[in-house]
Amino acid sequence: MADVHVRIFVTAAAAARALARDVAKELSASPRLVLGLPSGRTPVPLYDELARLHARGKADFRDAITFNLDEFLGLSADHPGSYRAFMRRHLFDRVNLRTSHIHFLNGAASDPLAECARYDRAIARAGGIDLQILGLGVNGHIGFNEPAPGLAAATHRVRLTMATRRANAALFHHRLRDVPKAGLSMGMATILRARRIVLLSTGVGKARSVERMLRGPVTTRVPASFLQLHANVEVWLDHAAASRV
Ligand code: GLP
Repeated sequence: MADVHVRIFVTAAAAARALARDVAKELSASPRLVLGLPSGRTPVPLYDELARLHARGKADFRDAITFNLDEFLGLSADHPGSYRAFMRRHLFDRVNLRTSHIHFLNGAASDPLAECARYDRAIARAGGIDLQILGLGVNGHIGFNEPAPGLAAATHRVRLTMATRRANAALFHHRLRDVPKAGLSMGMATILRARRIVLLSTGVGKARSVERMLRGPVTTRVPASFLQLHANVEVWLDHAAASRV
């Protein structure tokens, strides 16, 4: 078995509280922390907790820098279904991050390839990601790196699977036809270059993916299994997500 550090919490709320405290601690140790952030339902309690800590003076984002993992292709930053809008609602508008320190893939870029290259350069210029927080797709994806015969190393354009589009339909009033068919995502190497990675996964719906990620072979069919190759990775689970491991 690979050397992935697994932490199991009784509830999703307990995992979120502990991770928020961990992030706050990292921020106070290194105020210029470069954070990689996910969207999705899983990190919502984490973002709520970070906002609460910030309100109590216990999480200071003034000098922090963020890079989000992915964005839908074809959506502008102010589209309500965009991940950028999601992040504003759940975190950015509630803490003291500077707008100029928030980095996002521009889903509406006229040249998506150039946009992906720009993003990888911006991450490198910021000195790389110190702490990358990840969620886990029901199909084992991380970011928008979908199961495939091959995975892209650099930030790239992706065709979204039906499973992923369904999982994201809530952002589009549950109208599947409105969920974009493609996205832009940090690539596998972009993610794996982070100095520390914490994958947060909760709920019984993720138990099978968690099992395949941790116990299965490293395979492009389960992009999250590549985390087994990282030297400083933690997987934080609630009991339900850990039920098969
Ligand atoms: C989405 C995002 C991922 C996210 C994952 C899980 O499609 N692109 O970055 O981690 O799916 O989402 P959720 O937390 O809602 O289950």
